[in-house]
Amino acid sequence: MAFSKFVTFLVIFISTVAIASAGNFYQDFDITWGDGRAKILNSGQLLTLSLDKSSGSGFQSKNEYLFGKIDMQLKLVPGNSAGTVTAYYLSSKGGAWDEIDFEFLGNLSGDPYILHTNVFSQGKGDREQQIYLWFDPTADFHTYSILWNPQRIVFSVDGTPIREFKNIESSGVPFPKNQPMRIYSSLWNADDWATRGGLVKTDWSKAPFTASYRHFNANACIVSSGISSCDSAQSNKNDWFSEELDSTSYERLKWVQKNYMIYNYCSDNKRFPQGLPQECRMT
Ligand SMILES: *[C@@H]1O[C@H](CO)[C@@H](O)[C@H](O)[C@H]1NC(C)=O
Repeated sequence: MAFSKFVTFLVIFISTVAIASAGNFYQDFDITWGDGRAKILNSGQLLTLSLDKSSGSGFQSKNEYLFGKIDMQLKLVPGNSAGTVTAYYLSSKGGAWDEIDFEFLGNLSGDPYILHTNVFSQGKGDREQQIYLWFDPTADFHTYSILWNPQRIVFSVDGTPIREFKNIESSGVPFPKNQPMRIYSSLWNADDWATRGGLVKTDWSKAPFTASYRHFNANACIVSSGISSCDSAQSNKNDWFSEELDSTSYERLKWVQKNYMIYNYCSDNKRFPQGLPQECRMT
C-alpha cells in the first residue's frame, strides 16, 4: 500500500539522516597509535585516549577535508592532569603544511587548564594564543569547533568564538586554502613545558590519564583523489561556506579576549622586535 510504503521510506530516510549526522567513530576515524590505549566504545559513539608512563595514544580522520565546520565534544583528563597535553587539530602534509590547532595543557587538580591555539599556513606558525576557559573542561563534555572557509578560520568553544584568523592574502599573508587536512588528536606527556612552563611534572601514580570524545560532526568538503565533494553541482555548499561573525559573536569574542586571554602573539612586542606580524597590524 502506498501509505505504508511511504511510512517505511520515511522511517528509513529519517534513521539514515540521524546516523549520518550523529557521526560514528568507527566510520570517520582510525586509531593510529598507542597500542590499545585508544578505544572506540558504545558502538562508535564514544572514543577515549589514554596515557601512561610508557605511551600516549592518538587517532586521525579517515577523510581529508578542504573547508568545513567541524565540531567535536571533548571531556579532558580530570584530576591531576599536570604535564599532559591533549591535542586536537587539523593538518595537511609536507614541508609547507597548513595546520589549525587546539591544544589543552593540563594542570594540578583545581588549577586551570590552558587552551592553546595556533594557525600554520605553508609551514609557518608562530601564531600562538592562550586562554583559560570559563568552565571546568574536565567535569563534562564541551564542544570545540573549527569553522574554516575561504575567508576565515574561527575557533569556538560551546558556540562562543575564541579566535578568528582572517584571510588577508591580498596583504601577503598566506591562508590555508589549497591543501586538504585531516583531523588528528593525541594525548601525550609534555611535562618538559606544558604546566607552568615545565615546573610541574606528570604524577605517574595517577596514570592512566584519559580524555574522551563524542558527537563528532563535520559539515565539510571531503577531498578524495583530488576531487572535492563540494565541486559537484548538486552539493549545495551550506551557510558555513560564507559564514562570518555577526556583531553578537564579535562581542563574545571580545569578552573572551578581555577576561580569559593569557597570551597573544599579536601583543608580544618583545618577541617581534622588527615589528608585529602583518596579520596583527590589520585588526
Ligand atoms: C596551572 O595553574 C597555575 C596556577 O594557577 C597557572 O599559573 C597556570 O597558568 C595553569 N595552567 C598551566 C597549563 O600551567
